[in-house]
Amino acid sequence: MTTSAASRVVHARAPGKINVFLKVGALLEDGYHDVATAFQAVSLSENVHASAADDFSVRFTGSIDTSSLATGGSNLAIKAATLLAHRAGFRKGVHLEIEKNVPIAGGMGGGSADAAATLLACDALWGTDLTREELLELATQLGSDVPFAFTGGTAIGTGRGDQLSPALAKGQFQWVLALADFGMSTPIVYSELDRHRDRHSQDIFPASAQPQVDASVLQALRAGDPHMLAEVLHNDLQAPALHLEPQLGAVIELGEENGALAGMVSGSGPTIAFLAADLDGALELQIALSAARLTVVRATGPVHGARIIGD
Ligand code: C5P
Repeated sequence: MTTSAASRVVHARAPGKINVFLKVGALLEDGYHDVATAFQAVSLSENVHASAADDFSVRFTGSIDTSSLATGGSNLAIKAATLLAHRAGFRKGVHLEIEKNVPIAGGMGGGSADAAATLLACDALWGTDLTREELLELATQLGSDVPFAFTGGTAIGTGRGDQLSPALAKGQFQWVLALADFGMSTPIVYSELDRHRDRHSQDIFPASAQPQVDASVLQALRAGDPHMLAEVLHNDLQAPALHLEPQLGAVIELGEENGALAGMVSGSGPTIAFLAADLDGALELQIALSAARLTVVRATGPVHGARIIGD
């Protein structure tokens, strides 16, 4: 290896996401659920710096505490790099430095963003030159939310959430995110939903076999109108997440009392996403929630999917 190849660092970035709408169908035999979701990529992003190495390693830095993260083979970024190496017949490894800004186990797809940016960075570093479709196929194998971190913008996800079609969206939405000091496990939140549905099967409609995104959500995104979107925000995982962590209910109430148009659990939680009317509304809400000693960050969306920033 030449000195310049050894010192080359490829920088790729991928966004976190908010599910502005998430409907969950019945539990399938493979342990997954068919979902219908509207994703919006937001301006909290993960920065992956990839450099040549003989084996696979990762180190985390960034604005959030990363001490709980696994750095071995179970880490999704390492899985992404090894999957690409295997697919391309590449025999060496990579060292990844990941600057994390998306909450860990927060329901905003941070691990998925790490994986999407890693695929892109390693593809460029190793010159494997897979097509976008081939990289998306690998993204699908890594997790249900990885394809969206790859494509970004605004999209409808069906199947496991990995079958994407772009959605029209106008303007920028202003979000305020209340972060929790604990994480939640996605499979546990889905199981809690299944348990709830079993317990109340007499009283509630059975889960839809093929859930769909409501037309009103697409309309609100197309109009770029936060008031319209606030009316139709929906997340089937919110009730089970609140059942598991009831204190999140008070956080939603506090935000809505302080000017949020609406608040909801993001994905499988515990991050609470508040939609604000405009930037001033978001700033005021951020101040009010910070005064209540919550950890709060602002984000806008939609933003780009995974891309190379520097090489
Ligand atoms: O695809 P991913 O590895 O992110 O999924 C994590 C877990 O979340 C799955 O093992 C499953 O329990 C649950 N899940 C689901 N239905 C989906 C997506 C995820 O039940 N559509």
